[in-house]
Amino acid sequence: MRNKRTIIISNRLPVRIERRDQELHFIPSEGGLATGLGSVYQQDDNIWVGWPGFVPESEEEKLIIRERLAELNLVPVFLTEEELMGYYEGFSNEVLWPIFHYRLSYAVYNTDNWHIYKQVNQKFADRVQEQDLNEKDEIWVHDYQLMLLPNLIRQRYDRISIGYFQHIPFPPDEVFRSIPWRDELINGLLGADLIAFHTYNDSQHFLNACTHILGLPIHNNCLHVGGRSVFAEVYPMGIDFEKFSQLAHSQAIRTRAQQIREFYMDRKFILCIDRLDYSKGIIERLEAYESLLKEYPEMREKVILYMLVVPSRDTVPQYKMLRDEIDRMVGHINAVYGTNEWIPIAYFYNSFPIEELSALYVAADVCLVTSIRDGMNLVCKEYVASKEETDGVLVLSELAGASKELLEAIQVNPNSIDQIREGLKAALDMPPSEQRRRMKDSIDIVRKFNVRHWVKIFFNRLREIKTFQKQEMAR
Ligand code: G6P
Repeated sequence: MRNKRTIIISNRLPVRIERRDQELHFIPSEGGLATGLGSVYQQDDNIWVGWPGFVPESEEEKLIIRERLAELNLVPVFLTEEELMGYYEGFSNEVLWPIFHYRLSYAVYNTDNWHIYKQVNQKFADRVQEQDLNEKDEIWVHDYQLMLLPNLIRQRYDRISIGYFQHIPFPPDEVFRSIPWRDELINGLLGADLIAFHTYNDSQHFLNACTHILGLPIHNNCLHVGGRSVFAEVYPMGIDFEKFSQLAHSQAIRTRAQQIREFYMDRKFILCIDRLDYSKGIIERLEAYESLLKEYPEMREKVILYMLVVPSRDTVPQYKMLRDEIDRMVGHINAVYGTNEWIPIAYFYNSFPIEELSALYVAADVCLVTSIRDGMNLVCKEYVASKEETDGVLVLSELAGASKELLEAIQVNPNSIDQIREGLKAALDMPPSEQRRRMKDSIDIVRKFNVRHWVKIFFNRLREIKTFQKQEMAR
């Protein structure tokens, strides 16, 4: 009999495909999830199922991709343009994303998109079923694009272990209730044995939705669903600490960081890195920076705001509008406050390789995270992991999941321009001894609760729950 297999499932595969010069290129992701789960899916007969970020032109091309990905233990789910519009843009990013980030007015409810979301979740389930699973296998489903999948798999495999992780916040039940199809979404998740979140509040919001919307009885964090115990728990995700720490220690990165600082004339360097997203508080941050220059004119020419915005979801209207607004504000601040010797904001709309990010982290005196809502926010952890040798201060939104762990950061409410401004000012003025003391505490946490630890404790718990369920059934 074959060994137990582990199947990871997420919307995106950890490799994305691009066509350049008539050829297909397979580009591995450097994201946290890909590294954290690398040791899992690359082993034995384990696999990762997901969308390869590419729409093939022919059946022949699909076959080529399937074979190439199979060598990497990856199984593609191909999606048509129409499916991507309904499932990814329409439902995931125009209903679930805004609602789960508390932006009710941004949600666009469209029944056709809901049907396509269901159809695509079913497509993922079909692809999983083709993998010849058995009841001993373990499945880990990731994120809001696949909320119906746990139950679709459960209908086919009664006893199999299924875990689900939500990488974004889960809103209070009265906010979640706005979604016309909320019952089906919760029932979809309840196919899992372990439903996990970054923070305690998210898990409580989910449990409240189960009782208040579906009327399910709860015992502590345990729900009883069709005779099966389902647990909602908290597992804050970490990063690959070693990777960022090693990069930051390397001579090449140190030299590059020095070059960056020199290019900006050794001015106080404030770093912001985000995907283009309205949940990141980019506009609020720009307003706060302008307010800093206004209220503290002595800071002019002494600071630089280095803002890297990574292109994302640019086909969704809200994202296009945000991009225009950022362009306008950056232009305004640079035009009003800039001089021949100094441009207040260095703004990039691009994605940079990890080495360049690492050099920016090393170079930065301050890392500023202003998310209006964020499941976790890994950028602030990457900054911390890059700061063993150089000084720096983290200014962190109290509405990002990471604020529950990084208590030594300067925490601000991102809806308050005054608080962001004063947080920035305090960071810029902080004496080196205090910077070191605070950063050391943060480093200890990020090092210990790294992404491998996260994967390990999640699987340990999933196994524990399976054993518990077996004992329950034997009783
Ligand atoms: C967030 C979500 C992920 C998503 C990522 C990038 O971190 O939690 O599920 O993959 O954003 O967004 P994208 O829409 O490009 O996949």
